[in-house]
Amino acid sequence: QQNEQPHRTGFHFQPLKNWMNECNGSSPSRPIHPNRILVLCYRSCFFSYIYIYCVGNVTGPMYYKGVYHLFYQYNPYSAEWGNISWAHSVSYNLIDWINLELAMIPSEPYDIKGCWSGSATIVDNKPFMLYTGINFAEEQVQNLATPKNLSDPFLQEWVKSPLNPLITPVDIDPNFYRDPSTAWQSVDKMWRILIGSQIDGHGAAILYKSNDFIKWERADKLFLSSNKSVILECPDFYPVSTNDRNGLDTSVNGDDIKHVFKASNFSDADYYIIGTYDSKTDGFIGDSELMDDIIQLRHDYGVFYGSKSFYDGAKKRRILWGWVLEADNKSNDIIRGWSGLQSIPRTVLLDKNGKQLIHWPIEEVEQLRGEKVSLKNKEIKSGSVFEIEGITASQADVEVSFNLQNLEGAELIDERVHDPQLLCRQSNASVSGVYGPFGLLVLASEDLTEQTAIFFRVFKGRDNYVVLMCSDQSRSSVTTSVKEAIFGSFLDVDPNQIISLRTLIDHSIIESFGGKGKSCITTRVYPKMATGKDAHIYVFNNGTRSVTISSLSAWSMRNAQIAEIIKEESPQ
Ligand code: FRU
Repeated sequence: QQNEQPHRTGFHFQPLKNWMNECNGSSPSRPIHPNRILVLCYRSCFFSYIYIYCVGNVTGPMYYKGVYHLFYQYNPYSAEWGNISWAHSVSYNLIDWINLELAMIPSEPYDIKGCWSGSATIVDNKPFMLYTGINFAEEQVQNLATPKNLSDPFLQEWVKSPLNPLITPVDIDPNFYRDPSTAWQSVDKMWRILIGSQIDGHGAAILYKSNDFIKWERADKLFLSSNKSVILECPDFYPVSTNDRNGLDTSVNGDDIKHVFKASNFSDADYYIIGTYDSKTDGFIGDSELMDDIIQLRHDYGVFYGSKSFYDGAKKRRILWGWVLEADNKSNDIIRGWSGLQSIPRTVLLDKNGKQLIHWPIEEVEQLRGEKVSLKNKEIKSGSVFEIEGITASQADVEVSFNLQNLEGAELIDERVHDPQLLCRQSNASVSGVYGPFGLLVLASEDLTEQTAIFFRVFKGRDNYVVLMCSDQSRSSVTTSVKEAIFGSFLDVDPNQIISLRTLIDHSIIESFGGKGKSCITTRVYPKMATGKDAHIYVFNNGTRSVTISSLSAWSMRNAQIAEIIKEESPQ
């Protein structure tokens, strides 16, 4: 079965099929029995269906009464973007999922052309979902939906407010007015949200306030704008603690707290700023003097877009999730019949230095770890490659740390190049340096014709050493070329200490976390030879100096369980 669909994932969230168009409208010739629900199948029977769908960005993630909810932008009819509806899945552990029927479809004048992104807020113990509707006139307006039945633990049915649309664009281009954020409450008890927009041709986040979640008033002052984008999509705004490893609920503010503003920069990437939010004046001041400089911080330096975070009160953590697009050409998406994945959910914390966020795969993913191989203190000589054997290389979790003897003779960094991506592109994995490239070759064929290299290089800068982290997909497949084939980031670690890498490999997605989550690079690859049992993982060192693996642990990863709940058709 995996042979037919070698790029489908085993433990990432990916919906399973698309008979949802029937469920949407419950067509009269095929009545649906209202009370019967059937758990239809698990991942093992995935491939017996023909399915075509497109999965988009996370739309209103939330934790509510013991259940995690994932809503996402979904096209029930094709593997291309369009007909945007809200798909809905639930989970008890953020790993195993139950796919439910669509939560919302375009149906009313205020959302008839699409139910676009939005966010959940729990108000007086009840979920409120604000979302963007594309109205009959193709304008973007903001609407509200709430669960029909709060005693249904899965909150399967959603009711759109009769007062919709609640917020409409006034003196704002109605094509750039979307994605209401999760609301937060300030000292005056009023709720606040941000809407992604455009002012004077620049991306902007507009603040609205409300007492009752129904009547919203635009704040006089613009919350934030960026001249590096034409719209700030999917804004996310939340507090992080400066001295504690717990996450914070969205309305928390006070001492020892910083705020994070994140926006998706129109098809490019998710950027964020760390700063201080004054809840009395609603002012947000970025920690850097030049807002546009610090907007360079990215959640992920690979393929990761439209992310959303939510507070998980059960485990006192903030969880962030991103949409991982396909990097293949569209016609192949259509042949495969699916498009898009969700990243492994990550916990987000402020780094001890207060200057950036740390992302780490949620601990639950470790429940899927199976066979383990490990080693310690192994020298990898210049030019050598060795295989990590004994695990399922196409579905694996690898943690490795490297130790460099001394850094004498490290190459000088080219001071003219400030863009890490460019540095990675100038020197890909096959270009030998002094310290590096060294790292992993994953989803590699035995003869290494196919390989994706995740690697480091260490340079000497003017005042200190600079560590570059790269992911090189340029040789990932003999058949399909991937978009943006090489990604890179500077990694803020001291190379005199250990340089660590964790990589989650799942058939066509590779998520890499450098320096315990200081830089993340997620990529999509479509190997032809290095699939299933023919995939291999190697450690390599293509630098002229040896490096030592101080420790390595690698695990086979089991499949996550995916179940489908559909309403069973009643007998005729
Ligand atoms: C992000 C986005 C959002 C919008 C949604 C439409 O990729 O463009 O701004 O709400 O997708 O599906």
